[in-house]
Amino acid sequence: MTRYFALVPAAGSGSRMGEGLQKQYRTLAGRPLIRHALDALCAAPGIAGVYVVLSPGDLEWARHDWSALALRLHPLYCGGSSRAASVLNGLRAMARAADDGDWVLVHDAARPCLATWHVDKLIREVGSDPVGGILAVPVADTLKRDDGHGRIAATAPRDGIWQAQTPQMFRYALLRRALEHAGEVTDEAGAIERAGLRPRLVAADATNLKVTYPVDMGLAELILRMREEA
Ligand code: CTP
Ligand code: MG
Repeated sequence: MTRYFALVPAAGSGSRMGEGLQKQYRTLAGRPLIRHALDALCAAPGIAGVYVVLSPGDLEWARHDWSALALRLHPLYCGGSSRAASVLNGLRAMARAADDGDWVLVHDAARPCLATWHVDKLIREVGSDPVGGILAVPVADTLKRDDGHGRIAATAPRDGIWQAQTPQMFRYALLRRALEHAGEVTDEAGAIERAGLRPRLVAADATNLKVTYPVDMGLAELILRMREEA
């Protein structure tokens, strides 16, 4: 039977957040930021195990209590120098647990507002796809290209343009092979595209935002509180 695993890259330094604790460990709605995505993934009934890729020198993970998730959660101290390297190292470290045909859902530690319905929809729409797919949102704003001097050089057509999110879901062997050959890519789908395949786009929504800048912490907190009240 095909299984589903989650792989959560969390070995970044959070440079755009500014000085201080790495963003994955900053407090968001009373918990370390990364905890929210791990709760959502561990609670998804279809997911057999959740692997977290930490930087080899991470001292912060062990300072928190993960016992409530311990049955499904596996920290791996094998982060690399880029997101793609961290994911590839994580896949290698999972080799004994995962079979070639198992699905891997790669999800950014920095996307704390992942909801159950996001995961369910991705699995439902991609679970029988031959390639795999990702959550994404069609671009709503008009896009401008600058001229390098603070003025608009052109309006870029936004037709058919999507913002990629995570999870990104591919079969273990395909993803590992694609990342081994891809070179520099900013997401898993990028590696699959370089292998000549076309991952499926699954429409999500803006609540699955990535915390990148300090202002995103406030937005994420509002989204989590809003859901708690609903
Ligand atoms: N990531 C990783 N290993 C890296 C770089 C990034 O595992 N070498 C992870 C981050 O921890 C994050 C996800 O990839 O969960 C998305 O990356 P991003 O939002 O860019 O986080 P950082 O790289 O930490 O932030 P910044 O780019 O601002 O430094
Ligand atoms: Mg980064």
